[in-house]
Amino acid sequence: MAETQRLTRAVLTGLGTYLPARVVTNAEMAKRIDTSDEWIVERTGIRQRHFAAPHETAAFMGAEAGRAALTEAGLAPEALGAIIVATSTPDQAFPSTAVHIQAALVAFNAFGFDLSAACSGFVYALSVADAMLRAGQVKSVLVIGTEVYSRILNFADRGTCVLFGDGAGAVLLEAKEVPRTGPGLLSTHLHADGRLAEILYVDGAVGRKDHPGHLVMQGREVFRHAVTLLAGAVNEALAANSLSPADIDLLVPHQANRRIIDGVGKKLGLPPERVVVTVDRHANTSAASIPLALASAVADGRAAPGKLLLLEALGGGLTWGSALLRL
Ligand code: COA
Repeated sequence: MAETQRLTRAVLTGLGTYLPARVVTNAEMAKRIDTSDEWIVERTGIRQRHFAAPHETAAFMGAEAGRAALTEAGLAPEALGAIIVATSTPDQAFPSTAVHIQAALVAFNAFGFDLSAACSGFVYALSVADAMLRAGQVKSVLVIGTEVYSRILNFADRGTCVLFGDGAGAVLLEAKEVPRTGPGLLSTHLHADGRLAEILYVDGAVGRKDHPGHLVMQGREVFRHAVTLLAGAVNEALAANSLSPADIDLLVPHQANRRIIDGVGKKLGLPPERVVVTVDRHANTSAASIPLALASAVADGRAAPGKLLLLEALGGGLTWGSALLRL
């Protein structure tokens, strides 16, 4: 009886990514600022990042990733219900990045909006999309993470400018009736603590002509909170679904720092082959990092239909959260 019971879930039917052509190695960063490949690799695991050219805006990259996700799913743009764009580097204060992407995709039956939760943006957006799909508000949602952090980096601060990169990733989620053991988002768990706002923030705004803002971070403080808070969100996801770490096929973490990723993997007791790492190639692409990591795991065969994935992220806010997704 329980096995035959069907329920509405948000099922991933398409995935797409976009990375700027320009690759900036640690050696190139070392020509610009007082740093070294050794320091960056040892502290963060980062070896290179992509930086956007002027035409590669958040909307441009998000549209490219979104188009690829729609194509993979075989969904016509006019059938799309909604677009949620997780970004903290929008091209304009308004209109939203989402409406620019809607126009680029010719998806005129979709409504859209941007969501701001820094590096947790993609997990937050998945959660909102999941609620909209299960409530029956729409039948499909394109969830996009797209970021151009190179435009908000302070290149006079070597402690932050080496950590971030640009890129975009998108998933198409569709409401489907599936068996309990079938695919889709099983749950999402979101958190925030505004008391920690000052340890990671942008000291300006898109609307401020005098100072659009630079990223400012107390790296040690962020690091101190990250593993504990992420492990909490991960255990919460497992407990809510009566699962143990052994049930997880793949951990798909936000890609900020290799040591944070390894720390969470270790706490779960997962072997390295069950933890996706792309921070070496992409650096921290904020809201885009999880779909980029997911695409990498699809490409190397680890993320395949039927696999159970645990997604987790933490970022400015602080905000953090987790999502369990069966492909
Ligand atoms: N190259 C060379 N040296 C650097 C450097 C760089 N790019 N950045 C900082 N340093 C130096 C510092 O000036 C300092 O030198 P000092 O001891 O002579 O003053 C030394 O390295 C240690 O700096 P510190 O900031 O304490 O290093 P750390 O071990 O905390 O590592 C981070 C810095 C940023 C790598 C680390 O704190 C971190 O990863 N934090 C989490 C950040 C994160 O992931 N944020 C995003 C979350 S979404």
